[in-house]
Amino acid sequence: MSEPQTQYAYFQGRIVPISEATVPITTQSLHYGTGVFGGMRAYWNAEHEEAYIFRPYEHFERLLQSAALLRMKLDYTPASLLDILTALIQKEGFRTNCYIRPLAYIAEQTLAVRLHDLQPDLAIFVNPLGDAHFVSVDEGAHVCISAWRRVDDNAIPARGKVVGAYVNSMMIKSDAVLAGYDDALVLNNDGHVAEFSTANMMMVRKGVVITPPITDNILEGVVRRSLIHLLRHELGVEVVERPIDRTEVYLAEEMFMCGTGAQISPVTRIEHRDVGDGEIGPITRRLRDLYMDVVHGRSDKYQHWVAPVYSAETMMK
Ligand SMILES: Cc1ncc(COP(=O)(O)O)c(C=O)c1O
Repeated sequence: MSEPQTQYAYFQGRIVPISEATVPITTQSLHYGTGVFGGMRAYWNAEHEEAYIFRPYEHFERLLQSAALLRMKLDYTPASLLDILTALIQKEGFRTNCYIRPLAYIAEQTLAVRLHDLQPDLAIFVNPLGDAHFVSVDEGAHVCISAWRRVDDNAIPARGKVVGAYVNSMMIKSDAVLAGYDDALVLNNDGHVAEFSTANMMMVRKGVVITPPITDNILEGVVRRSLIHLLRHELGVEVVERPIDRTEVYLAEEMFMCGTGAQISPVTRIEHRDVGDGEIGPITRRLRDLYMDVVHGRSDKYQHWVAPVYSAETMMK
C-alpha cells in the first residue's frame, strides 16, 4: 500500500486541493516573517479506529493569541477552527498519526513595514506521519548549550509562535546538529535556561521537577502545561516553575524536552557530561507512558483533552 499523502488544505475560507493553496511572491508575510503558526498532533488509535487531536482548544487559543500579538484580526474561534480541522482530516481520511500545521499570515500584496490595517488569512494542512517520531528522540538525546541566545520578549515575543522568530530556533538547531548534537539548550539574555530549539525544558533535582517560568522567554507550551498537571495530579510529583541557572543543569538527575514535536524526549548527556547516571530516569519514563496513553485517547479521565475526528459531526463542508 502506498504511503498516504497530503491532498487538501484549508485556504482562503475553503478546503481546496493542496496544489491550489499558494500565495504570490508579493505577499507581505513572505518578506517579513509576519505570520503565526501552530504545531499540533492527531494520534491514531487502532483499537478505537479513531484519530484523536490533542488539546485542540488550547492550541487554537494560543494561535489566536499569537495572532493578536501581531495585530491580526482573525474571524475564528477555537471551536470554529476545530470544526474546520476535523472536516479536513475526515476528507483526507488519514488512519495514522498526523502533524497539523495551522498558519495565519498577512496576506496582502504589499511591502509595507507595519502590522496594522492589513488583511490576514489562515490556512491549515495536515501531514500524515505514520510511525515516524518526527523530532522526538526515544533513547536519550545528547545536547549542547547553544552559543545563541533565545529571542527576547522585548524584541520578538517568544511566548507566541511567530514565524520570523523561528530563524532563532533554526540557528540554534543547525549549529547543534552540524556539531554532532541532537539539539541544544538555549539561554535567555539573563543567562538562565529558556528551552530547547523547538521544545520546552524540564529537569529533575532531588525528585522535584523544575521548569523555567513563562516569563523567561519560553514558548508557552501546551504540552508543558499538560505535563505540569499530570505530574502534580497523577504522579504526585512536585513541580516548581522558576529560573534555572546554567550550572544547575549539570547537577540534574533527569532532563527531558517536551512539546508537540518532541513529545517527551529524554536528555541523557549535555556536551561531555552525563545527566544523572546517563540513563533515562524513572520520572521521565512514568510521565512518558502516561502522556502516551492520554494523547492516544486511552485514558478515560483525560478524554476531554483529546477530540475525536471520525465520530465527530462538523458544520464545515
Ligand atoms: C520554541 C518552542 N518551544 C516549545 C515548544 C513546545 O510547545 P507545545 O507544547 O505547545 O507544542 C515548541 C513547539 O512544539 C517550540 O517551537
